[in-house]
Amino acid sequence: MPQIELKDISKIYTVGGQTIKAIDSVSLKIARGDFLSVVGHSGSGKTTLLSIIGGIIRPTSGNMLFEGGDISNLDDDALSGYRNEKVGFMFQFASLLPVLTSVENVMLPGLFSSADRSDDYRKAAEYLDIVGIGDKINSYPSQLSGGQQRRVAIARALLNDPDVILADEPTGDLDEETEADIMALFKRLNHEKKITFILITHNLHLAAQASRRLRMTRGALEEF
Ligand SMILES: Nc1ncnc2c1ncn2[C@@H]1O[C@H](COP(=O)(O)OP(=O)(O)O)[C@@H](O)[C@H]1O
Ligand SMILES: [Mg+2]
Repeated sequence: MPQIELKDISKIYTVGGQTIKAIDSVSLKIARGDFLSVVGHSGSGKTTLLSIIGGIIRPTSGNMLFEGGDISNLDDDALSGYRNEKVGFMFQFASLLPVLTSVENVMLPGLFSSADRSDDYRKAAEYLDIVGIGDKINSYPSQLSGGQQRRVAIARALLNDPDVILADEPTGDLDEETEADIMALFKRLNHEKKITFILITHNLHLAAQASRRLRMTRGALEEF
């Protein structure tokens, strides 16, 4: 059974009487531990696709299956349970809260989970160590470089031990060396923890390092 299966997914946005077909009949099977890259022009539907896989938005039609179960029919509570327990999100900007330290920022997703959180501080510190900034746990975002802030966001995405990491241009504004470091970290997590990665990137060199490469064109998806 695939870990994730998209069955004929479409998404139509309606804005002021206008309709936009952001996703056009996409089908895709993803196995646990796959590393997918997604490239495509701005507006081609990449973020919408990732949001559907992550249960942030619902498709207009079609089905999104996780481990065989259809998440498109879950109620809001069950869908947020899926988001919190299975998925780690990384967005284009690190989006850390400036008033919280690194370790507090990493612990943040725990606030939205019903599970026992007593172990979060230890885990947060451990993940900051794994991503290479164990010496910065008490620093505030303003005291960190862009690459260090990005690592905090990566540690935060790891806190709930996600099965899947959805990363939307996570290294977009970083220098090449930091970008390469972060890509190496992703590949290590993919390999060692069998976390599935779906990485949207404009960088064709990064995209080429994925085990499966996808391109979106006006809502349609092709593997190449
Ligand atoms: N919330 C929204 N409401 C209306 N239209 C949207 C919304 N989000 C995205 N779109 C439109 O859907 C299309 C795909 O957008 P998006 O998924 O963000 O593409 P990409 O991430 O590839 O740039 C674009 O035409 C965009 O303007
Ligand atoms: Mg986008």
